Amino acid sequence: MLLRRVEKRGSVDMLTPREHWSSRSGFILAAAGSAVGLGNIWKFPYLAGKHGGAAFLITYLALAFTIGLSVMLCEFIIGRAARKDPIGAFAKLKGGLWPIVGFMGIAAAFVILSFYSVVGGWTLAYIIKMLTGALDNGSAQELGKMFSNFIEDPIRPLFFHGAFMILTISVVVGGIGKGIERWCKILLPALFVIILILLARSLTLPGAMKGIEYFLQPDFSKLDAAAFNAALSQAFFSLSIGMGAMITYGSYLDRKMHLPSATVWTTSLDTSIAFLAGLVILPAVFAFGFDPKAGPGLTFITLPAVFADMPGGAVFAPMFFVLLAIAALTSAVSLLEVVVTYLVDEKNLTRKTAAWLSGSIMFFIGIPASLSLGVWKEYTLFGKGFFDLLDYLSSNLLLPLGGIFIALFVGWFFSEKALEEATANNQHSFPFAQVWMFICRFIAPLAITWILVSGL
Ligand code: TRP
Repeated sequence: MLLRRVEKRGSVDMLTPREHWSSRSGFILAAAGSAVGLGNIWKFPYLAGKHGGAAFLITYLALAFTIGLSVMLCEFIIGRAARKDPIGAFAKLKGGLWPIVGFMGIAAAFVILSFYSVVGGWTLAYIIKMLTGALDNGSAQELGKMFSNFIEDPIRPLFFHGAFMILTISVVVGGIGKGIERWCKILLPALFVIILILLARSLTLPGAMKGIEYFLQPDFSKLDAAAFNAALSQAFFSLSIGMGAMITYGSYLDRKMHLPSATVWTTSLDTSIAFLAGLVILPAVFAFGFDPKAGPGLTFITLPAVFADMPGGAVFAPMFFVLLAIAALTSAVSLLEVVVTYLVDEKNLTRKTAAWLSGSIMFFIGIPASLSLGVWKEYTLFGKGFFDLLDYLSSNLLLPLGGIFIALFVGWFFSEKALEEATANNQHSFPFAQVWMFICRFIAPLAITWILVSGL
């Protein structure tokens, strides 16, 4: 065992170069695969429903394309410059206290994947439900009841949570090119197509117009501090930024690629899928008379109702949940990859050991998260159950905080090298370089701090 490890170390460090993405499109699809996930299709529509529809949408888009995009570029640059896990990257590029930012990221990965995998498990369960004809006698109200009965059950969601975690671990064990990149290349195009099909159905439902108005006609009086805070958190969560996932993915890049354009691609793909998901779900919510503020169940309750009501629904329903599960999987993989890259780079574990070890710990943290939606509902802290607490702690606190430090790092302590990285030593043009630097130095840290503080 010891011998093998020494051998492996030697070969990784000296003989074989770091694994890398096979192509530019492969990298963009992997980054977009990380970004596009439950955050877009499950979380975004219910947040938009809760925080006033269009006003939330516009705030979210504005934040994603200014602060979000800038922080993502910082992460890609840090990763590629250091070619290391987030902790190792900060240590290598600057040292001092900076690796703490990387530590926060690893912690956030544990927090997020623990509850993310619970929801990932729901998508697996729903594939089976849809295949076995749960829709056949489902009125919208019954489908709602089916959802809450399921997530409140003490056993069944845990089983699917475990299955989802095992899938995630399996992809990560496969590594970068053969595991992650290959999966993402198939998924994203397929997801796009099925969302368009759903869109056609949803927009033609009788009564859909009210939902379209709700989603597209801004009422800025709904834009309070809570909505701002939620839009910022959602921008971070949905773009997979603020905790080093994009540092990790950037660390598997070779030198040539033009990072600013990859960043714009990733952000655009991610936000457009969120936009489309809102445009599918909110009209259907109004058409079936659900409450747009219903919360986390929105997607799982309304979409089955749309399918039940649509020709070919029995085919599209399982198909949609398969795609949702894969979208969740490619995001979950990026969360686990952060921890695994760290354990492989810094602790010399094998990829396989690292993935099983960290994945299992996350599985166990996920158990109380799942139970907090059912049998442990009455145990709360700060008025939140454990599931909501993990969600809140990561999206509303850890990610924005990480974003502040990442922007400050690049803006003030790494700016010259970062500009070189962004243009690959002036091989590429980057007309927005000054704007980006200004956002990193001033706008992002101040705006995030302000939104964070006002949200508390
Ligand atoms: N962005 C993913 C989603 O929208 C979730 C996710 C994956 C994530 N990796 C992340 C969130 C890293 C924050 C940080 O579903």
